[in-house]
Amino acid sequence: MLKGRHLIDPMDFTKDEIQEIFDLAKEIMEAPEKYHRLCEGKLLAALFYEPSTRTRFSFEAAMLRLGGRVIGFSEPNSSSVSKGESIADTIRTIGCYADIAVMRHPKEGAPRVASMHSEIPVINAGDGGHQHPTQTLTDLLTILMAKGSLSNHRIGLCGDLKFGRTVHSLVKALSRYPNNKFILISPKELRAPDYVIKESLEKNNIEYLEVEEIENVIEELDILYMTRVQKERFFNEEDYIRLKDRFILDGNKLRNSKKDIIVLHPLPRVNEIAYEIDKDPRAYYFKQAKYGMYARMALIAKLLGVA
Ligand code: CP
Repeated sequence: MLKGRHLIDPMDFTKDEIQEIFDLAKEIMEAPEKYHRLCEGKLLAALFYEPSTRTRFSFEAAMLRLGGRVIGFSEPNSSSVSKGESIADTIRTIGCYADIAVMRHPKEGAPRVASMHSEIPVINAGDGGHQHPTQTLTDLLTILMAKGSLSNHRIGLCGDLKFGRTVHSLVKALSRYPNNKFILISPKELRAPDYVIKESLEKNNIEYLEVEEIENVIEELDILYMTRVQKERFFNEEDYIRLKDRFILDGNKLRNSKKDIIVLHPLPRVNEIAYEIDKDPRAYYFKQAKYGMYARMALIAKLLGVA
């Protein structure tokens, strides 16, 4: 039963519950007109304390396409947050007006704090360099649509694995499906945090490899998940400049990959995928952005208990 629940961490839902969301997302994709009044009379609050394009707009589009309405802010200084109001008081107040809340925050754990004080479902839309569970729903749905299964894949994750919250959530979620192998491709300074390696991979006896070059491993991958270097999480601009163009996927590098590899990216992209790749049928990142809206439509409907 998903009605009334929060989504803060990718493991908050069982595999069966995630499948339930995907089944509904697929139904909505096939016949969207059947669902356009599903959330009539419901209100979603979008509380974005950090910039966003895909997550915010896809949540807003999702609610509007379900016949609901949206309130919120994308600039926290326009709310009483700028006067020092706490997360707890903000969410208690929002719960007086809205039926469901989506929160992005630069501080790790902020959406969890909100959920602990909330009368309405709270969805984590990204907390600092920690987790991004609805990007994970997006990524899993994309893999399912492209490959037909979430198991038996060789998955390369490339770029900023230290600060890239989408990677942390995706590894956690995919580690629950059998026979996946992870190839973690990053410079030493941007390696995946120990808690991801230990808790998600080693504890579950999952095969993984850490490498610093993409060329040596690209031919064995079924899925390549590129990420940008997260400029906003660096303390030192010199380090960012030194590392930002470390990996650039271009036609030359992709030439050695499998014919049916899929290239994913949570976006935004900076330089890490050359524009020439966009027209390659294996480039899935804009389809991925679209699947994100359907995944969020299904999630909203399930948490509100209207489907
Ligand atoms: N993928 C993602 O979270 O994009 P935004 O930062 O634009 O929401």
